[in-house]
Amino acid sequence: MSFKEQMKQKADGIEALLKEYIPRESGFQKTIFEAMNYSILAGGKRLRPLILQETYRLFGGEERAVEPFMAAMEMIHTSSLVHDDLPAMDADEYRRGRRTTWVVYGEDMAILAGDALMIFAFETASKAFALSAHPDRVGQAVGILAQKTGIYGMIGGQTVDVELTDKPVSAEQLDFIYRLKTGALLEASMMIGAVLAGASAEEVRAVERIACDVGVAFQIQDDILDMTGTAEVLGKPIGSDAKNNKTTYVSIYGLDAARTQVERLSERAIETMHGLTARNEFLEELFVSLIHRDR
Ligand code: IPE
Ligand code: IPE
Ligand code: MG
Ligand code: MG
Ligand code: MG
Repeated sequence: MSFKEQMKQKADGIEALLKEYIPRESGFQKTIFEAMNYSILAGGKRLRPLILQETYRLFGGEERAVEPFMAAMEMIHTSSLVHDDLPAMDADEYRRGRRTTWVVYGEDMAILAGDALMIFAFETASKAFALSAHPDRVGQAVGILAQKTGIYGMIGGQTVDVELTDKPVSAEQLDFIYRLKTGALLEASMMIGAVLAGASAEEVRAVERIACDVGVAFQIQDDILDMTGTAEVLGKPIGSDAKNNKTTYVSIYGLDAARTQVERLSERAIETMHGLTARNEFLEELFVSLIHRDR
């Protein structure tokens, strides 16, 4: 099967899985279920659950315990997007080819839907205890999920991103922002896959480094696409960073240097992967494909 066919098959599997885990829309609080599902079912590349699953395969994992974590990862990522688009943050009106959650459901419901997705992710992840013969691994994975989402991870990064909007940003601060706001959830995806499959502590540290490089490259490419992409392909508006007067890798170093850095970081990630005993060719191809992604 070609890489493209494999991608399609795996993505379909993830869509089906997400549908299994999202809440049913009934009860007096029905609106919150609708607002959660609106954003999660809007589509998206599903990159984080895919990477989680492929890292699990890389280390020989075979249990169904990986599935609730894949769903949880996409819920947390989606929660970060719902909040990122709010008027108080990036004030964007399009996401995943639809009007953003706050535009459709109001700011109040978008705040609640983001909160709900984030905490429902943990409710979902905890279902893995019943699906695994290794509760210790599941416990460790839940801890990683929390740490990489919160103040030492995505939320920590968004904090500095928001605080430094409209202000000069040093190279060191920019690197911090990218590692945390975007790198951290990719790190969690790979680390959780590795931990659930029983990888060693050293292997978990290696995948953390790989995912950090992939994550920073991913964010730089996101910045490039914010300048050079199209809203039709991206499913979100272009020019969001300029509109908000954000300092990005592109605004500091220029487009060419940014493109080179995406390649360099991705190549380093693949090199680190080659240092592992186990192999997953699909995952390598995936990382290569991200270098020139247009969405
Ligand atoms: C967008 O992430 C936010 C960033 C971290 C750059 P994705 O580009 O993975 O968004 P979806 O999930 O495909 O919508
Ligand atoms: C957001 O970075 C990263 C998150 C944690 C959501 P951006 O603000 O650049 O993401 P987009 O471009 O809106 O997807
Ligand atoms: Mg943002
Ligand atoms: Mg944004
Ligand atoms: Mg962006």
